[in-house]
Amino acid sequence: MAISREFIQDIHDRLDIADVISSYVSLKPAGRRFKGLCPFHGEKTPSFTVYPETNSFYCFGCGAAGDVIGFIQRIENLDRIEAIKACADRAGLSMPEEGYDDSLTKRRLRILSANREAARFFNAQLREEKNRHALEYYLNRGLTPATITHFGLGYAPDDWHALTNHLKSMGYTENELILANLSRRSDGKAGCYDIFRNRMMFPIIDVRGNVVAFSGRRYNEQDKQKYVNTSDTPVFKKGNTIFGLNFAKNSSDSRLIIVEGQMDVIALHQAGFTNTVACLGTALTTEQANILARYAEELLICYDNDEAGRKATARALEILENTGLKLKVINMEGGKDPDEIIKTHGKERFNDLIKGAANRTEYRLNTEMSKYNVLTDDGKLKFLTAAAEVLADSSPMEAEIYTLRLANEFGINKDSLSAQIENAKKNLKRKKASERMKEDRAMLANSFSDKSNPERAKNIRAASAEEVLIASLMRNPDFYQKLRDRFSPDDFVTQFNRRIITHLIELIEGGYSTDVGMFSEVFSSEELGSIQRISFRGDETANTLKECEDCIKVIKEEKAALSNPLAQGGEITDEQFADFFRNKQQ
Ligand code: UTP
Ligand code: MN
Repeated sequence: MAISREFIQDIHDRLDIADVISSYVSLKPAGRRFKGLCPFHGEKTPSFTVYPETNSFYCFGCGAAGDVIGFIQRIENLDRIEAIKACADRAGLSMPEEGYDDSLTKRRLRILSANREAARFFNAQLREEKNRHALEYYLNRGLTPATITHFGLGYAPDDWHALTNHLKSMGYTENELILANLSRRSDGKAGCYDIFRNRMMFPIIDVRGNVVAFSGRRYNEQDKQKYVNTSDTPVFKKGNTIFGLNFAKNSSDSRLIIVEGQMDVIALHQAGFTNTVACLGTALTTEQANILARYAEELLICYDNDEAGRKATARALEILENTGLKLKVINMEGGKDPDEIIKTHGKERFNDLIKGAANRTEYRLNTEMSKYNVLTDDGKLKFLTAAAEVLADSSPMEAEIYTLRLANEFGINKDSLSAQIENAKKNLKRKKASERMKEDRAMLANSFSDKSNPERAKNIRAASAEEVLIASLMRNPDFYQKLRDRFSPDDFVTQFNRRIITHLIELIEGGYSTDVGMFSEVFSSEELGSIQRISFRGDETANTLKECEDCIKVIKEEKAALSNPLAQGGEITDEQFADFFRNKQQ
């Protein structure tokens, strides 16, 4: 049993979808809608649209769609029941006591509790005499016992079954352990074995305090894999989790420091920089960028002092550009990463690095400068050309300040640099326009290709009529009374549209709202996107009974034609022809 439709509709009625979404996405009014940058894919021009009238959202760029519940589900990485609960809370409604299928929630809760027990187990190992070496590893890296406890660090013993056996003795099933990504099934043998062996264990804790995953660093430097991380599970998605945010969110600083590794986070927290976080061995994702923007006003990027770190910084600056976060880059001098800097030079040094952090423009100028030998005329020319491109992409005030500075430093006329910047601006404008065009084109492609309805392309006439009928009925449910005897879902040619009309009729007959969100009970998020696109056709159509009747006529014609192989055109087999001929004679 699912949650009752009344309850879902209650949530829709009580929550203002634009209001809810605007705590995650900055929305601007556009007529009766709102627009913003899509939190689910990277984009520079807003194609994410919120429709308060139909309690729904839709992204013209990536096709993401749904209602307020679907939005919360996706952005908070919850299952549907949990998302409904979160929305109900917000709406001041209490969940119905019984009668809904919360098996997925139960499974997630089991995984979370298995993870918590695993974290306890790994931590307890550090107190075993036989694992002295593991405790020493942490102490040698400068961590205090208090820090080890604070982060719940641990050790996975060098054993194939230690954790699996322990958790099984506590009542967890092998299936649950496999789902949690703690154990793996043995090839061709009964039972399963531990995924983490002889590793230093870092629990990954979400902002709600759940242990959602683990990162395991090799103890033995000879081991091939430096880190083994939990892969995606029902409770964990690598791309939208941020290590250390559970602590950093409580720091009084409105700035966050982002570093590469969890050891860096831990070392910095221990040194008092409790506003430090890390993305887990991945390039920063749009989702992570949006989460960071929710918790901070300013972000200090502090990636490793190597080529990979510099590349990651450039990429992060791009992704973060549209989040509204104020950005700074810490110039990592004196060590390969923050962990090393703290250890060799102390926290005062790191404080100085923070104070000297460069803003985005300054950082980009420094990066360009390091690429050329500015002592030669040729190098100077190349650098200044690149600098002009950087300044073309900065605020007017910044451009003015740095133009003066560069002109002085390089002994050139500031007007010639300004002219160069003006030129670069034109190029940049062209480049941005072409990027926008690419986005638009992708958008257009998205709205035409429809994975949800693979039969559409072959039955374009039928499918179009079906869609207009669906769109009209969504908008004018009262038409249904007059049309109900003229057609049935069985007349529909394409299966996907048949599913939509079946559900739509159910909603209308039950007296429910026909908003897109009311379809989320039985349709996937991708399918909701398609339903949203179909409902847009309501804008273009006549919305008259007559039009609906015409559609029904077309649908029936097409259906009849389909059952007549001769009319289908193209090839038919001899057998089909014989069949058809026999049927005719009966
Ligand atoms: P690093 O290789 O810089 O590790 O990777 P580290 O944090 O400095 O570790 P130590 O100091 O040598 O112990 C940075 C981060 O990238 C992820 C991990 O999260 C790591 O903290 N990573 C790295 C992986 O996920 N897998 C890898 O194989 C390597
Ligand atoms: Mn490191």
